[in-house]
Amino acid sequence: MIGSLTCMFPEMNLHNDIPRHIAIIMDGNGRWAKSRGLPRIQGHRAGAESVREVIDAGKELGIEYITLYAFSSENWSRPEKEVSALMKLLEQFLESKRKDLMRQNVRLQAIGQLHRLPASTKKKLDQVIDQTKDNTSITLVLAISYGSREEIVEAMRRIAQSAVDGEIQPADIDAKLVADSLYTANIPDPDLLIRTSGELRLSNFLLWQISYAEIFIFDKCWPDFRQGDLFDAVKEYQKRHRRFGAL
Ligand code: IPE
Ligand code: IPE
Ligand code: MG
Repeated sequence: MIGSLTCMFPEMNLHNDIPRHIAIIMDGNGRWAKSRGLPRIQGHRAGAESVREVIDAGKELGIEYITLYAFSSENWSRPEKEVSALMKLLEQFLESKRKDLMRQNVRLQAIGQLHRLPASTKKKLDQVIDQTKDNTSITLVLAISYGSREEIVEAMRRIAQSAVDGEIQPADIDAKLVADSLYTANIPDPDLLIRTSGELRLSNFLLWQISYAEIFIFDKCWPDFRQGDLFDAVKEYQKRHRRFGAL
C-alpha cells in the first residue's frame, strides 16, 4: 500500500510527520449544487462520496483520527426542509456505510449536542458507534449538532459543579482539566485543519482544540474534494515548521 502511494506522491514522506489527527470543515455543498443548477441537498449528497475518499486516504496514510464537521449548532437555524433533509441523509449515510466501516475496521465516534438529534437519527448513530467501537484502523469522529462555544460552556458547568460539590478547588482547574471536560476528552488535538470552499473562518469548530493546528484552506467545494487533495495537504503539512511558541 505504501508502495503505491510513494509512486503517486514520491515527495511524500510516509515514515515521518504524518498528522495523527486531521479535522475538516466540509463546506461548500450548497454552492457546488447551485453552480450546477441543482437543489442544495444534491450538494450534500455528493459530499458523502468525498467522505468515503478521505477515510480511504486517511487509512492509507496511517492517520489515527479524522474529525468531520457535518452539522453545526448554528445549522439548526437553516430552513426546516434543509435540516430534515440533512438528518435523513445522515441516517442514510450511517445505514449504507455500516458494513463498509466494519470491513475497513473504522471506529465511529460523534461529538456535539447529540440529544438534539431526531430520535431515529440518534438511534442509528448509537447503533453504528456501538457496533464499530472495537475497530482499530482509524477513528472517524462526526461533529454533529456541534458548537465549540456550547462544548466549552457545558465543560465549565461540569467543572463549576465539581467545585460546588467540594471535589476540586478553583486552583485545581488547569488546561488538562478543561481539555478532559470537553467532548474530545480522549481524542488528541488536531494537527491539521482543512476547510474547503475558500472561507477563511472557523465557524465555531474545535476552538480550544485547534490552538496549534496547521491550517489549510482549499478553494474547491467539499463535493470536489478527493484523496489526492488530502495527500496534498499532508505533503504541505510536512513542509511546515511547527514551533509551538518556541524557537
Ligand atoms: C456544508 O455545506 C455542509 C453543512 C454546513 C451542513 P453548506 O451547506 O454550508 O454549503 P454552502 O456553504 O452554502 O455552499
Ligand atoms: C460550517 O459551515 C459548518 C459545517 C461545515 C458543518 P457553515 O456553512 O455552516 O459556516 P458559515 O455559516 O459559512 O460560517
Ligand atoms: Mg457553508
